[in-house]
Amino acid sequence: MASPKNAAPPWRRDFTWGVSSSSFQIEGAAREDGRGPSIWDTFCASGRIANHETGDTACDHYHRYAEDVALMRDLGVQAYRFSVAWPRVLPHGRGAVNELGLDFYDRLIDTLLAAGIEPWLCLYHWDLPQSLADLGGWIVRDAAGWFADYASLVGRRYGDRVRRFATFNEPAVFTLFGYGFGDSAPGASGTDTLNRAIHNVNRAHGAAVDVLRSLVPNASIGIIHNVQPCLPATAADTQAADVLDAYWNGAFPNPQCLGYYPPQLTSAIEPYSQPGDLAHICRRIDWFGLNHYSPIYAKGDPRSSLRFGLGAAPEDLPHTPIGWPTDAGAFQETLLKVGTQYRLPIYVLENGFGGYDAPDSFGRIVDTPRIDFLSAYVDAMRAAIAKGADVRGYFVWSLLDNFEWTQGYRVRFGLVYIDYVTQKRTPKASFSWYADLIRAAGQTDHLETSHAA
Ligand code: FCB
Repeated sequence: MASPKNAAPPWRRDFTWGVSSSSFQIEGAAREDGRGPSIWDTFCASGRIANHETGDTACDHYHRYAEDVALMRDLGVQAYRFSVAWPRVLPHGRGAVNELGLDFYDRLIDTLLAAGIEPWLCLYHWDLPQSLADLGGWIVRDAAGWFADYASLVGRRYGDRVRRFATFNEPAVFTLFGYGFGDSAPGASGTDTLNRAIHNVNRAHGAAVDVLRSLVPNASIGIIHNVQPCLPATAADTQAADVLDAYWNGAFPNPQCLGYYPPQLTSAIEPYSQPGDLAHICRRIDWFGLNHYSPIYAKGDPRSSLRFGLGAAPEDLPHTPIGWPTDAGAFQETLLKVGTQYRLPIYVLENGFGGYDAPDSFGRIVDTPRIDFLSAYVDAMRAAIAKGADVRGYFVWSLLDNFEWTQGYRVRFGLVYIDYVTQKRTPKASFSWYADLIRAAGQTDHLETSHAA
């Protein structure tokens, strides 16, 4: 049940409560209606996912989107953040357009609007067409142009109904894991590929902002960064933590919002940068999308070409069942810090609790620890707002349990439980908690708003 404390002011009149998802993690229909292969199809086929799972069916959202929108309406969210699967609308990443794929997002957007839910469209949530990966993917400079053309297709098609656009979700995560450590799609590793990918993703972001601005006159454009304190796993790991912090928290927001790379990365990126690149990367955006789960820990790793890796959190810290430390205070500090650093309105576009939920003997999913987690994090956000952080929205990750990348389906983040055999959707106790919170927050006194981002 929503504590009155959670719902108490200050919530702005236009504070946006939402849920988030991503294409590969929920859609399924991997080979239907002309969708081309994605790097995650290839990575799954390589057998590196828990239980050899794939995204072939996932939550079957491609066919069940109307039921999922109805769930969102019941939940009372004002907004839904989803991503477009690039390989569904451009099966080879460029060239021939797949009308059937475009039609799917027309149906989704129209159904959301009819339910009074604002669509927040993210262009890229780790769903790169395999054909483009075959050409080098993010490590080649051409990638910025491919992405701008894709952004143009999406802007022209949906810009009459969609106003909120994000260019990328968590560029730090997909570059570090997919081009640095190599343990996620597309599985490349090393400093050279990582630094190239970072710079080209930054260039692609700037190019897409320009394209969307020119095509969608009232567009509200942002990008979604994971921002987390990076702490040393042991006293010997302070340097590793400093470098991880630069890659994790600075490599994207700094050039995009401030016009320069963090000092730790300047010389590493320099060989791949051309005159004028930084000016093209640093384009005006309207808001800062922030994903936050927990602090992360760094360790030195002499065996890796990066010389650092992710370390284990101290065992005595409270953590979620999947081992992520819980620290709502770190969330509050992050919101305040990001507000000061980048001076943009903040939307929290992911926050959530990963567990191994299972129905009880009555078929109910009583996920009290998730409620406790979300409640503590909402309280921390409220405290940050009271201290001056300009936070304008909060989106839970995620509406549905879904494909959690290399962890497959065993890790569950949803407010709605998915039975992957029957595809039956069952709202968990946290679903009712969130519905109560949204309803109660809408009934409290409000701060007046002067302008909307
Ligand atoms: C974030 C990702 C999202 C999901 C959550 C748990 O880093 O953006 O796709 O996997 O973590």
